[in-house]
Amino acid sequence: MQQGYLETTKNVYKEAAENPQVGLCCTTTPVWQFPGLSISKKMLEMNYGCGSTVHPRDLVNNPKILYVGVGGGMELLQFSYFSRQMGGVTGVDVVDEMLQACKENFIEAEKQNPWFRSGFVKLVKGDALRLPIEDNSIDVAAQNCLFNIFKHDDLKKALQEMYRVLKPRGRLVLSDPICEQEIPENLREDERLRALCLSGSLSLKEYIKMITDVGFGTVEIRAKRPYRILDPVNYDTDELIYIESVEVCAIKDPMPVDGPCVFTGKTAIYYGTEDCFDDEKGHVLLPNQPLAICDKTAGALKALNRNDIFISNSTYFYDGGGCC
Ligand SMILES: C[S@@+](CC[C@H](N)C(=O)[O-])C[C@H]1O[C@@H](n2cnc3c(N)ncnc32)[C@H](O)[C@@H]1O
Repeated sequence: MQQGYLETTKNVYKEAAENPQVGLCCTTTPVWQFPGLSISKKMLEMNYGCGSTVHPRDLVNNPKILYVGVGGGMELLQFSYFSRQMGGVTGVDVVDEMLQACKENFIEAEKQNPWFRSGFVKLVKGDALRLPIEDNSIDVAAQNCLFNIFKHDDLKKALQEMYRVLKPRGRLVLSDPICEQEIPENLREDERLRALCLSGSLSLKEYIKMITDVGFGTVEIRAKRPYRILDPVNYDTDELIYIESVEVCAIKDPMPVDGPCVFTGKTAIYYGTEDCFDDEKGHVLLPNQPLAICDKTAGALKALNRNDIFISNSTYFYDGGGCC
């Protein structure tokens, strides 16, 4: 017997499939537009995500793509834009009505996008907690605004499932709300608020820990943005609660012996008088050339207490390259 909140979640998204609700649970972050890509009004109205999981640089070398929690299919269409092959993208969802709405949106997408075929996406009924997907078979596994709904043990299972299906070096790309304040228990236990992606969020640190605890050796924080306010007038809370959303990429790299590499957008800049600074652990800093560093390297460089290395704060905007 499934827990009540998972049933409530299914009902919320059954409703959202049958009656598209603009801004139902999520923000209106700008939608990726690409040359020759047209997204129908209904698909836009059914954008129930809180960021983007489609990053062209993840999509080189013809990856096998999995997308869990399909919504109206907008990100499946965007992934197909890059993949353009029959069955190149698999979409999994537990709600029949959502799968049906997505299928219908693809028929419209075929009319608006001469390059697109519905067959580019294989839609499969299944649960994020028991993915109907083979081990080590996926290069890019994405989810947008679903995992924050899950309670601790279910979130752990969902992350383990993504880890299981990814090939070595494969990428989990996700977008989810986070919250640095303690969300009161009454809101956390409110099944509908949780299903609406409003009260299940963890802090970024807790979320990263859950991701690395299942084995992902590298984590990139690609974006962090304001998301929602839960205010005392509209919600049962005494204080204002500020929720943000993040875009994260977790790579199924082997776990380094000294722990995961987490890139939160820190940068080191050497401004000394030598030709370069070499910590002899694989990090070479050239004068006045910024090097993206993971938080572990930032800590190690800081501990040297040098007065010729600057280490920036986390920008939560990491877009590749760097130390590890
Ligand atoms: C907040 S919506 C996000 C939809 C889509 N990712 C987007 O960005 O528009 C959550 C999606 O997850 C689906 N869902 C809910 N519970 C699920 C579960 N246990 N397993 C798989 N999908 C689920 C819902 O039907 C819905 O499509």
